[in-house]
Amino acid sequence: MRARSYFALSVMVVGCSGSTGEDPTVTPGDETSVTTETGDNDTGTPSEDSGGTPSDTAMADEGSGLPDGDAPTDGAMPVSGATIPNLKVAFVGDQGANTNTANVLKQIKAEGAQFLVILGDFDYRDDPDLWDSTLTANLGADFPVFAAIGNHDEPEWPNYKKKLEARLAKITGAKCTGEYGVKMSCYYHGLFFILSGVGTMGTGHDTYIKDQLAMDKSIWRVCAWHKNQTDMQVGDKGNEVGWPAYQACQNGGAMVMTGHEHSYSRTKTLNGLGNATMGHGAFGDFASLVLKTGAPGNTFVTVSGLGGVGIRDYVASKHDDDTWWASWYAINGHLKNGKKLTTASGYGATFVTYNVDGDPKKARGYMKNIAGVEIDSYEIRRE
Ligand SMILES: [Fe+2]
Repeated sequence: MRARSYFALSVMVVGCSGSTGEDPTVTPGDETSVTTETGDNDTGTPSEDSGGTPSDTAMADEGSGLPDGDAPTDGAMPVSGATIPNLKVAFVGDQGANTNTANVLKQIKAEGAQFLVILGDFDYRDDPDLWDSTLTANLGADFPVFAAIGNHDEPEWPNYKKKLEARLAKITGAKCTGEYGVKMSCYYHGLFFILSGVGTMGTGHDTYIKDQLAMDKSIWRVCAWHKNQTDMQVGDKGNEVGWPAYQACQNGGAMVMTGHEHSYSRTKTLNGLGNATMGHGAFGDFASLVLKTGAPGNTFVTVSGLGGVGIRDYVASKHDDDTWWASWYAINGHLKNGKKLTTASGYGATFVTYNVDGDPKKARGYMKNIAGVEIDSYEIRRE
């Protein structure tokens, strides 16, 4: 471990139409963006008072694929844009504040996840102290946690945000730009992920997502937000996101992780999001997914909403004619890679391990419930 580290917290005001980070001038009003960086810094930049543009600074070494501190220690040449080998990340939303909530967090730790991305809707009690202490009790005070805003987090969002920013400041090597949990892009252990408030807070999300993905050179990219389109969950949620954000992620070759509906569901590979007539472009094997940047690109969509607050039904009247699901898990059923099973319903998280089997472009995902049953399992190839 290298001893030298830095922490820079910059407040910048960006124009209301976007966030290219061109103007670091601090003036009252408008949207506030926070850039937080922690970690080793062999290059000597940025300093604590760099005066540079936060976005430019944070993105500066992404092309290398390996942030400072993540370089291989075995002398191997780093692969451009790769994550660290076997990087396991947990994704879950809709947590609540009960025993199930705690058990899902304990599971995340037990499975060996290196960090957690919370997909919105935290404790449902508007109690940031309670939520933060629940994370600390079950994961530890320094466990790396990132989050996107959910609709239940809006009333106390400024205080949730403070908790999240305090956690972020302790995450060595994490580089994030933008407005926390609403229009934020992060880079950690070689994974690039966008935490968006699309459908919940803010505007201009699809443009932001598109621009951020266009700038990034990482192999693995994730779009994470809370809400859904009806066709992209298996309950009775409405169309609350719009298709452009999904399409931006699809064409950027980024996987989409959401919450909001209190069940689990995961599509096949999709290349026609928004086109229900063509089944949103679903194709390929249930358990072998392909991510590809292009026009159109390829993605897949997951709802990981079994964080503890409740479990809802699969709504047959709305989804029996859906042709794009590989797997789903609700109170009234379980489909695993196209096969109906009789697994008892339960809570759990989604885990994705990037850069597996010595292949930087291969990943493996699974959903496991807190009883230890593997609910879903798949491989992902990045083209
Ligand atoms: Fe929600």
